[in-house]
Amino acid sequence: MSKNVIFCYSGTGNCLDMAKNIAKRLGDTDIVMMRRQPAVTDVTGAERVGFIFPCYGGGLPGDVEFFARQVKISPNAYTFGVVQFAGYPGNGLRMIDDIVGLDYWTAMSHQCGYIVLFPHQMMLPPMSPAMAQKRSERTAEKIAENVLAGRESGGRPPLYRLNRLEYRGWPAIVALKAKNFLVDPARCVGCGQCAEICPTGNIRMTPAGTPAWGRNCYQCVSCLQYCPQQAISLGGPTEKRERYHNPNVSRRRAQPGRYPYRLKKNTRLSEGGYFSAHFAFPAKELSTSFVKSTHWLCSSTPAVSITVSSRSSEDCSITGVAFHASMSL
Ligand SMILES: Cc1cc2nc3c(=O)[nH]c(=O)nc-3n(C[C@H](O)[C@H](O)[C@H](O)COP(=O)(O)O)c2cc1C
Ligand code: SF4
Ligand code: SF4
Repeated sequence: MSKNVIFCYSGTGNCLDMAKNIAKRLGDTDIVMMRRQPAVTDVTGAERVGFIFPCYGGGLPGDVEFFARQVKISPNAYTFGVVQFAGYPGNGLRMIDDIVGLDYWTAMSHQCGYIVLFPHQMMLPPMSPAMAQKRSERTAEKIAENVLAGRESGGRPPLYRLNRLEYRGWPAIVALKAKNFLVDPARCVGCGQCAEICPTGNIRMTPAGTPAWGRNCYQCVSCLQYCPQQAISLGGPTEKRERYHNPNVSRRRAQPGRYPYRLKKNTRLSEGGYFSAHFAFPAKELSTSFVKSTHWLCSSTPAVSITVSSRSSEDCSITGVAFHASMSL
């Protein structure tokens, strides 16, 4: 376990980029993604634990609330939270504070990922992607300084009553929008990246080679924003609106492949166990390791195979494989 752990959810890359920039300053940091079931939830060995996520519908995105409730943190650990938003921060920090108790928190705006509502520059204050990104990088430095200094925000993150109402109605909006995905067959090349990127396994490729959507959707719009052909839309203005994802978080995979790994003799595989692969990013000399979970693949044979992929644009290499026997509380 690294000294610092950052739990991160990101749909269009802004929060993952922020997490990476903070990790770079902190050193010795694991970034654990919360788009799917996190690879690690028991982080009692970490000295600092952070949560970085966007505002969705005035609250927390996807299943972050559910995942955060599984996280075990040492009572002596320093905790921090960062929310990114387009127009208003919502109650996500307050919700995480309810669950883990945050020592330090902060909020900042970045490009709007929710193409359904606004073009991406319609953040507050309106800004170009380059300006917003520069500002985000400067903010990440300040946040890391504060975290290293152990600064505390004092009091609790604010609770916005209007956002609480908004968030109550959010699941209905998500369910409604989940029915609206369209694919332009003239543009789609059947690469399957949309299905790969979907955190909920909501997209299947049809025999005709085009994607089909189910109803288990977070509205993270990763499928739409990262489609290399701009073949996906949610109808109306989204057909023409410029696509956006964070410039430093691409879908290009570094060293994809399957890595065989032999478990130690007598390793017990219990229900709910996870494997994670740790990656090093030598290009940026990060001491950070990234964790990617794969569901355990066998119950009786000791050999497993781990599929390695990365959402980073940098080259990466696999540096270790760990088995987490239990993900339960
Ligand atoms: C489904 C969805 C809902 C969103 N809801 C809000 C919101 O309620 N308020 C807001 O200010 N921004 C909202 N946003 C904008 C994101 O918070 C913002 O784009 C953020 O930078 C995205 O971070 P990411 O790139 O790490 O996913 C929403 C974005 C998405 C995709
Ligand atoms: S990512 Fe785009 S081009 Fe690739 S299969 Fe999906 S819709 Fe088609
Ligand atoms: S279908 Fe698209 S928007 Fe919905 S969860 Fe999957 S990737 Fe996100």
